[in-house]
Amino acid sequence: MEPISEVAELFRHQRAVRAFSDREVSDEIVEQVLTAATHGPSGSNTQPWRWIVVRDADVKAQVSEEYEAAFAAAYADRAPARADDRQPFTEVPVLIVACVQVPSTGRAGIQTGASIYPACQNLMLQARALGLGSVLTTLHRVKRAKIHEILGIPEGWDTAAIIPLGWPDRSYGPNRRPPISEVVMRDRCSE
Ligand SMILES: Cc1cc2nc3c(=O)[nH]c(=O)nc-3n(C[C@H](O)[C@H](O)[C@H](O)COP(=O)(O)O)c2cc1C
Repeated sequence: MEPISEVAELFRHQRAVRAFSDREVSDEIVEQVLTAATHGPSGSNTQPWRWIVVRDADVKAQVSEEYEAAFAAAYADRAPARADDRQPFTEVPVLIVACVQVPSTGRAGIQTGASIYPACQNLMLQARALGLGSVLTTLHRVKRAKIHEILGIPEGWDTAAIIPLGWPDRSYGPNRRPPISEVVMRDRCSE
């Protein structure tokens, strides 16, 4: 995909990309997207995140096995959209695991997510700006205990997303969304 420098275009062209070419993703690129992530907002600016960069084939294989099991369970009775365009994690150049600190109450709610997902979006937008593809995935959470064991996630931390990152297998057009008139209300909720 072509790099994008114009911001409105960037939003329109940031797509879920689940299949990648063999082209290497350099450490410099990974640092660049993670830097964008860490400029994201978080509640009280606590920056309650850690990022695991997975390149090791064995770790990828173990995570992939769990993810595929979660995927099969999720889509046991319905077809996934664009099923042909998905590679297993074993074939993805880099996996970025977004970890978030769980509040001392032990309950991760909307606010916990709100302190990690904007950073993930920063990461994905920066990736797209450079011409890379990525996708926010959360299905691993079905197999969370096993995945945390594989990745060595300590108590008090959770995994909010696994983001495959790489050079796309092909060009992707803009994302498609309904006009905002279908989702925007004036002054009060009208439904
Ligand atoms: C909260 C959330 C969870 C998601 N989980 C997954 C996932 O587990 N696996 C996956 O392949 N895509 C996942 N996605 C990606 C969505 O399917 C994708 O963003 C959506 O289909 C829009 O794609 P588009 O921007 O290319 O139109 C997730 C997205 C969000 C925001």
